[in-house]
Amino acid sequence: MYKIIDGKKISQEIKDELREKAAQLKAAGESRCLAVIQVGADPASSVYVNNKKKACEYVGIESLSYSLPEETREEELLKLIGELNAKKSVSGILVQLPLPEHINEEKILLAISPDKDVDGFHPVSVGNLSIGRPGFVSCTPAGVIQLLKRSGIEIQGKECVVLGRSNIVGKPMAMLLLRENGTVTVCHSKTVNLREVTRRADILVVAIGKPKFIDESYVKEGTVVIDVGIHRDENNKLCGDVDFERVAPHCSAITPVPGGVGPMTIAMLMSNCVG
Ligand code: GUN
Repeated sequence: MYKIIDGKKISQEIKDELREKAAQLKAAGESRCLAVIQVGADPASSVYVNNKKKACEYVGIESLSYSLPEETREEELLKLIGELNAKKSVSGILVQLPLPEHINEEKILLAISPDKDVDGFHPVSVGNLSIGRPGFVSCTPAGVIQLLKRSGIEIQGKECVVLGRSNIVGKPMAMLLLRENGTVTVCHSKTVNLREVTRRADILVVAIGKPKFIDESYVKEGTVVIDVGIHRDENNKLCGDVDFERVAPHCSAITPVPGGVGPMTIAMLMSNCVG
């Protein structure tokens, strides 16, 4: 019988711990404040931004919200980031992605002060992670580590396979598993004999961005599967990169979609904000 890793429950535990820590910081006169910037009105982004603001409220962090029109110029956005960088009362800055096409995303992420980079996307944060120095870590992969640890799943010495190599999930995921002393392999859409690689995994993290891509032929018996994907299937039902019904019976533990990795991202954002 497989265990379902409950991301909703674990993310709630984390937010409750952070709520206590934030209260202590506040009592010591060290309040936290997250500035959230959204450019344009992409409906999915609006939902994410709203959830981030709600989480701040729950944990007891102040939040500032900047909702800028779609046609905002790059220089205007850079100017706002510069002002927020300089503002002592602001401890974290988050620019919701994706940005409109006329804005250079890399330039924007570089402009955020690494001290306030709660998304962990700045090259300084990425570099710190890769050489084992403390710093902000990208929220989704940090959430995956918490899911594993808080479910009592040991990483040390295990064959960990990461499917996907994005800057936000795949690459930092590999670094974090390595930091936990896992034996890490990164594979992707161009990998030859992909099944041979994924079937080696004791822990398989899937972030390939293709609905129900992983079926039972990709996993070995008794593996742990973490599904980072989120999509709508042909019946408009939420699903992940993993075909849960087919894969779960072969696992020792697996995350569902929804209610697995998803809720962890915001919990880890709050963790980055509280510090
Ligand atoms: N868009 C989708 N996910 C994220 C995220 O984690 N951070 C930001 N800034 N934008 C996103």
